[in-house]
Amino acid sequence: MSTDFFILRFFEPHCIVNHNPSSFMSQLDLLNIPQRPRRLRRTAAIRNLVQERTLTVNDLVYPLFVMPGTNGKEEVVSMPGSFRYTIDNAVRECQELWDLGIQCIDLFGIPEQKTEDGSESYNDKGIIQEAIRAIKAKVPDLCIMTDVALDPFTPFGHDGLVKDGIILNDETVEVLCKMSISHANAGADFVSPSDMMDGRIGAIRESLDDAGFSDVGILSYAAKYASSFYGPFRDALHSAPQFGDKSTYQMNAGNTDEAMKEIELDIMEGADIVMVKPGLAYLDIVYRTKERFDVPVAIYHVSGEYAMVKAAAAKGWIDEERVMMESLLCMKRAGGDMIFTYYAKEAAKRLR
Ligand code: PBG
Repeated sequence: MSTDFFILRFFEPHCIVNHNPSSFMSQLDLLNIPQRPRRLRRTAAIRNLVQERTLTVNDLVYPLFVMPGTNGKEEVVSMPGSFRYTIDNAVRECQELWDLGIQCIDLFGIPEQKTEDGSESYNDKGIIQEAIRAIKAKVPDLCIMTDVALDPFTPFGHDGLVKDGIILNDETVEVLCKMSISHANAGADFVSPSDMMDGRIGAIRESLDDAGFSDVGILSYAAKYASSFYGPFRDALHSAPQFGDKSTYQMNAGNTDEAMKEIELDIMEGADIVMVKPGLAYLDIVYRTKERFDVPVAIYHVSGEYAMVKAAAAKGWIDEERVMMESLLCMKRAGGDMIFTYYAKEAAKRLR
């Protein structure tokens, strides 16, 4: 045994056993132990044994679009394989999801009518409210989350109320509270405010509690960026902004400190789960969030990300299934606890 080893072993034991990989590696280097990391990649069995992060069907949340009418199903042109369903067909779809092992959906609705005050959003007989009741009647154990924002409910396509071209904050929060109570009343398990108004998480938490819904959770879209990756979703919901963009309330793609502040505020105000959105291009935000806060983190693999994979696959330029599975796994590796994805069904089938 060399003197080097003796010194390392007995005088700096913390160096050899500590968890700092670079110093651990340099110790091995000093000891002249040849490194052969490929030993752990030699066979599939070994690779599986040492895999650090995995994707399971429990991690998947399926975003579901519902529209008025009966017996209808329309494919979203910019999202091949994704559909708007009438409530009856949405219920059938939920049964299928449940049978595939997917246990959670996020509901988005196209209302009968858009009004400047967004009042259809809290109509107890509105599209989301009726969809929740119908789904709960048939698939009672499916966890239902509901989108809380005004973009499909006003003619402006903005997430809040609009006056003279300005997106109003506090007035919007009042409507979001009514909407949340109405969803909870219909049976939602979680409300998911995706609007990015200031103070809405605290206000919604208080309203839910006051209305007797202290068991209804809040998944907050806490770090939501003003992103061009949302285009196909806005086609799906007919909700593209009719003027300007969303950069006075959604975040600037260049910022990360601001994301930490938004997330911290939402946790302090009562969010049970926080979301980072979009997905792949924002995994540094997910990583930083997970390092810093001990809460479940959701990632939204958004419509534009889905559309890009679909388009390239249609051209035969990429292997769709592998790109899909790799994208989802990378979101888990970065620290995501759950992933909202239009690929949930395909991934669930693949994971079986
Ligand atoms: C709207 C909302 C959007 C998405 C989820 N909720 C679009 C937007 O903010 O304009 C995007 C989802 C996707 O692109 O898949 N409140």
